[in-house]
Amino acid sequence: MWGGRFASGPAEIMEEINASIGFDKRLAPQDIRGSLAHVAMLGAAGILPPEDVAAIEAGLKTVESEIAAGSFVFDRALEDIHMAVESRLTEIVGPTAGRLHTARSRNDQVATDMRLWVRDTLDALDAQAADLQRALAETALKHAGTVMPGFTHLQSAQPVTFGHHCLAYVEMLGRDRGRFRDARVRLNECPLGAAALAGTSFPIDRHATAAALGFDRPTANSLDSVADRDFALEALSAASICAIHLSRFAEELVVWTSAQFNFVKLSDGYTTGSSIMPQKRNPDAAELVRAKSGRIIGALTGLMIVMKGLPLAYSKDMQEDKEGTFDALPALSLCLAAMAGMVRDLEPVADVMKRAAGSGYATATDLADWLVRELGMPFREAHHVTGRLVGLASGQGIGLEELPLTAMQEVEPRLTDAVYAVLGIENSVASRTSYGGTAPANVRTQAERWLKELGPA
Ligand code: ARG
Repeated sequence: MWGGRFASGPAEIMEEINASIGFDKRLAPQDIRGSLAHVAMLGAAGILPPEDVAAIEAGLKTVESEIAAGSFVFDRALEDIHMAVESRLTEIVGPTAGRLHTARSRNDQVATDMRLWVRDTLDALDAQAADLQRALAETALKHAGTVMPGFTHLQSAQPVTFGHHCLAYVEMLGRDRGRFRDARVRLNECPLGAAALAGTSFPIDRHATAAALGFDRPTANSLDSVADRDFALEALSAASICAIHLSRFAEELVVWTSAQFNFVKLSDGYTTGSSIMPQKRNPDAAELVRAKSGRIIGALTGLMIVMKGLPLAYSKDMQEDKEGTFDALPALSLCLAAMAGMVRDLEPVADVMKRAAGSGYATATDLADWLVRELGMPFREAHHVTGRLVGLASGQGIGLEELPLTAMQEVEPRLTDAVYAVLGIENSVASRTSYGGTAPANVRTQAERWLKELGPA
């Protein structure tokens, strides 16, 4: 395609390092879509006669169906998907095919194809994240009152409900989806027609191609159009943050399904057995969700480093945007699907979680709050008194609620029987009614709000 000034072909290794067809063949549908929009515009602008436009359009549709049918041959010697499509088009329609590349370059072509691919992928990720939110909100509604320990530093802190914990991830996913949508807004400008880097002398209509491809507008600067991949960086960045959220939840599932915790049971569908230890049920899906965050973040950092020293405009370095992006975004898609499956199937072990919620002096804050509320004690002093009571109970190896009133009164004589009410974990949880707090009534309201907002699947 570009061999006019070359006397011999590329070295074998040159071909190998240069070719992107092995991975950018994934862009075939976007490439053909872009070419169809471009050729239609060339016709409408009077740059190509209608018969050439018709021949090229028919040829592109044939190529499209060959690719869809799997009969298309991707030849490494043709470097990339853009040249592969054009070369096959030439075989089908003859030299007229050469007119398709009027007023465009592979530089604006690849930028357009990548934007189209990333845009479709962001939309799909948004829908999948919504589905995971739905699964979590449904679980939250079912378990609005299922008590579990809340942790800080992975030490029992205060009782919360399992529903509340699920809704924490619904909120995170809501922000993840916001980032997907924000990235889409900035991505949605069309580079096609920027040509190699400087624009073109042909009277093209970039607004028409932008509209035909579903972009909001054409990009305003031809150098920027072909030189940046920030749209991919933003998508990968949003994907990385989402992957981090999923990884944290996956880690919790791994810990919670251990025999030592036994807080939840994962289903047969999302666990595996061991070939040697018959008792085992391994949370492989959760572990892999946790691990895939590494690949996704790796793709982001990889592309950031590729881009950071490049002078304007296009450099071949930018071809390295693809493998990481094509690996990372589908990996996130798989993680979202696996998480939704795990959540829909999982069963909390309510009695174990409840017992754990009551251990570790998790209602100590409730006791301190009682001292403040009922005795008018300053919080710092209440904290101190409670600390002494916890010390007394732990010295005897018993729970706060098991301390006799007389023993408590030796620490604080004004304590009464009424204090036992707040030492129960159900009361503790029910009392957390501040906005955003864990009280079951709050959790139910929030879960219902989300389910309404998310709508049916
Ligand atoms: N395969 C190339 C890429 O992905 C397409 C653009 C090539 N442009 C060029 N001037 N060599 O970046």
